[in-house]
Amino acid sequence: MKQGIEEKRIIIAIDGPAASGKSTTARKVAQRLGYTYIDTGAMYRSVTLKVLRQGLLDDIRRSPESVSDLLQDISIRFDGDRVLLNGDDVTTEIRENRVSREVSFISSLKPVRDRLREMQQELGRQRGVVMDGRDIGTVVFPDAELKIFLVADSRERAKRRYAELIAKRSDGAELPDLDALENEIKIRDNADAERALAPLKKHVDAHEIDTSDLTIERQVERVLDLALDILQDCR
Ligand code: DC
Repeated sequence: MKQGIEEKRIIIAIDGPAASGKSTTARKVAQRLGYTYIDTGAMYRSVTLKVLRQGLLDDIRRSPESVSDLLQDISIRFDGDRVLLNGDDVTTEIRENRVSREVSFISSLKPVRDRLREMQQELGRQRGVVMDGRDIGTVVFPDAELKIFLVADSRERAKRRYAELIAKRSDGAELPDLDALENEIKIRDNADAERALAPLKKHVDAHEIDTSDLTIERQVERVLDLALDILQDCR
């Protein structure tokens, strides 16, 4: 990289629906630039896991504001690729289906969004981060120098999820069902885009990239090209 480019540190916000390639792209872009990658979906998943572990889901459904109690002593940290919830490694557990099913509900609650937005803004304060989620370019860092909105056909996204699940599947475990996966993805897209607070939405300045027919390498190159243009202009 040219001298000077590495001195300027920007925020790259990558938003988009489930399984659109956000986390893989964001992680690789961060590696290439020497930036920190922050997976905000993992933060919403961690809160959801805490709710489930404490058996509070029904209480919170009945009285949503009660979620505030649980947020008082929550700590979510990233250690490389690992996610630590109050010091406990939850990297695998937060990807379980029981978490995926409830995360849209938990992430629609105002106390949860307020608390996590604060944490995310603190994590990005020094800049030099690639952050992915649903509302990073619109709400968390509307001043991010580069905003990306990734989209992909729902069938294609279900196929990616399927391949991920197959790769992680233990011997003898049931095969996932592609139609059911596509359906779950559509339900989550809808919930995330229709909620009142910080819905999934493309910022007017965001660059939309359709990843349906792109390899990961191409997605990464597209984002890096845009980032390098900005970094060069900033010199
Ligand atoms: O990126 P993911 O699929 O792991 O995200 C899980 C859920 O978290 C997603 O369905 C909506 C919520 N989320 C959010 O509301 N805002 C974000 N910035 C990131 C995720």
